[in-house]
Amino acid sequence: MLQDNYTRLYDYCVKHSTPMDDLLYELDRETHLKTLAPRMSSGPIQGRILSLISNLTTPKYILEIGTFTGFATLNLVRGLQAEGKLITVEVNAELQYISNKYFVKSGYADRIEQRIGDAKEIIPTLDYEFDLIFLDAGKRDYPVYYDLILPKLRKGGIILADNILWSGKILNEKMDKTSLILDDFNKYVVNDPRVENVILPLRDGINVIRKL
Ligand SMILES: C[S@@+](CC[C@H](N)C(=O)[O-])C[C@H]1O[C@@H](n2cnc3c(N)ncnc32)[C@H](O)[C@@H]1O
Repeated sequence: MLQDNYTRLYDYCVKHSTPMDDLLYELDRETHLKTLAPRMSSGPIQGRILSLISNLTTPKYILEIGTFTGFATLNLVRGLQAEGKLITVEVNAELQYISNKYFVKSGYADRIEQRIGDAKEIIPTLDYEFDLIFLDAGKRDYPVYYDLILPKLRKGGIILADNILWSGKILNEKMDKTSLILDDFNKYVVNDPRVENVILPLRDGINVIRKL
């Protein structure tokens, strides 16, 4: 019943929020038709929030960890400054044929740089001071990513860490390994004097973290 209500409320939010444009709709559809886990994609509501935050903060340098098919990338890039750059890192090269196609169609291809490989190895090689970082790759590595990216985030910059509530499993008495790691991660962030944060209980939970 609760789940049913949640689904109806989510559908209501989709219907009463600015819809995806044709390009995002096409990408969302192709993602559902051609990938095994389309729910990994941010989807319309979270995508709109990402583009809204990007438009509000007008970043010069954006980092995304975990491209998948590029749905979040194409939302994040919308607030990017004209001379800015978005770097998106993905370990699975097999998805590149989808993401690249849409990056080109979007007209932002010259400002999106995709790096293929393990983000844990790629992040230390990035010589940028990022304004906005979307953390959305392997959840068990969130603590590692956080310590790698925080020094590369400018003061006042924002990290958006996705799936932080892990379908509510972080409330289970007996947590699985991923839930335990995410729970520890959330505790680490809220006690970290270098940042302020708020968890938005949106979709699977987004931890919005601002560097002080
Ligand atoms: C939840 S999906 C990303 C969804 C995308 N950000 C969006 O919202 O549309 C997570 C992605 O992270 C990638 N990934 C997992 N571990 C990774 C790693 N160590 N380095 C880079 N990418 C990784 C996966 O292959 C997967 O495509």
